[in-house]
Amino acid sequence: MTDRLILGQTLAFGGDPFRQGPDVAHHERQGAILIRDGKIAALGRADDLRARYPQIPVTDHGAGLILPGFIDAHAHYPQTAIIASWGKRLIDWLNTYTFPEEARFADPAYATAIAARYFDLLLSHGTTTVASFGTIHPESVTAFFTQAQARGLRVLAGKTCMDRDTAPAYLRDSAQSAYDDSKALITRWHGVDRLSYIITPRFSPTSTPDQLHALGALWAQYPDCLMQTHLSEQTDEIAWVRSLYPTARDYLDTYEAHGLLGPNALYGHAIHLEPREIDRLAEVGAALVHCPTSNAFIGSGLFDMGLRARVRVGLATDTGGGSSFSMLRTMAAAYEIAQLRGQALHPAELIWLATGASAEALGLSDKIGRLAPGFEADLLVLDLASTPAIAQASARANDIWQAVFPTLMMGDDRATRQVYVAGAPVT
Ligand code: GUN
Ligand code: ZN
Repeated sequence: MTDRLILGQTLAFGGDPFRQGPDVAHHERQGAILIRDGKIAALGRADDLRARYPQIPVTDHGAGLILPGFIDAHAHYPQTAIIASWGKRLIDWLNTYTFPEEARFADPAYATAIAARYFDLLLSHGTTTVASFGTIHPESVTAFFTQAQARGLRVLAGKTCMDRDTAPAYLRDSAQSAYDDSKALITRWHGVDRLSYIITPRFSPTSTPDQLHALGALWAQYPDCLMQTHLSEQTDEIAWVRSLYPTARDYLDTYEAHGLLGPNALYGHAIHLEPREIDRLAEVGAALVHCPTSNAFIGSGLFDMGLRARVRVGLATDTGGGSSFSMLRTMAAAYEIAQLRGQALHPAELIWLATGASAEALGLSDKIGRLAPGFEADLLVLDLASTPAIAQASARANDIWQAVFPTLMMGDDRATRQVYVAGAPVT
């Protein structure tokens, strides 16, 4: 693969700004990154690296800000076409919009068309890794991985499992078929190129205890796979879980009792947690995923970012429950929700949530999410003056944080100047 030297502003995090403060990020106004074999080989000042590597072709992004590509830690690619559907809360929204659309993924041609459209949208928004739910159809995962593989992307996904009569008959598997199909997909895809399989029960209300148990048993056989699901998103949903699982201590216990709690577990939303649930999540080292545009759009509630003190937390769009494919828009929503809880997240913390923290949540913190030698060269070059409104605000900036914050609050796909996947520019 060709070596390449890319120039621009760089922002490299040497650690977690929540724990160590914003100064843990090193800003280079005229920075450079040497890409070799799809990875970051060196990072430094433009004049230094140009002098050290005079033969290597240079791409100069000027004042563009080079960051790791964004990492969306929870999404539903099959809901791409129903994003921004009006006026329902979670359970109604699932029944009215989501389930009929997901049924269409029985058709591999439709699944392929939406997967292709989805990756075009992701890349245009500067997102280079996503952990997605499929539908109950194994073909939905095959289409997703095939399209990701063709683009060289690092992605994670799983077949969504639902076997309970709370889900419509046209969209149900069984405990046995969920186990068999998931296992076959693990064998086919997990660890192939940059693809990872995630064991994916949709959520307790749409699975029987038998199905949760079968997926817990599968996870025990493949403990290096992640397991993703939903937890405590809306109060109505929690009441529903209580009625379906009358002996469970709480929502988390419906997973825990069936072997679906562990350090490689990833729970979306987790807004209305009980103290016992928080203690158990912290004890086992599970991860949570904050989906702020979704939580506002579906009216779910205000996630407590203070949980970060005890539990890994990633950031995600949750499309199509979320109202944007943009991780910039998602950072803005995370900022607003934290403000409503009395906390102002620093720009360094917001960028970290969409990069390093999401990588940590996905167990990929040694591969992606940071600008550092040895990391995979999935990169985003941000235009910090992508609209007149943003340009006039950032023109007043005295430092990088003031310069980037208008883009975090008001930016969208227009701020994506260039994306690199494994070192190759996306055209
Ligand atoms: N809970 C179970 N399924 C879903 C889904 O598709 N979207 C959201 N936001 N919550 C869910
Ligand atoms: Zn979700």
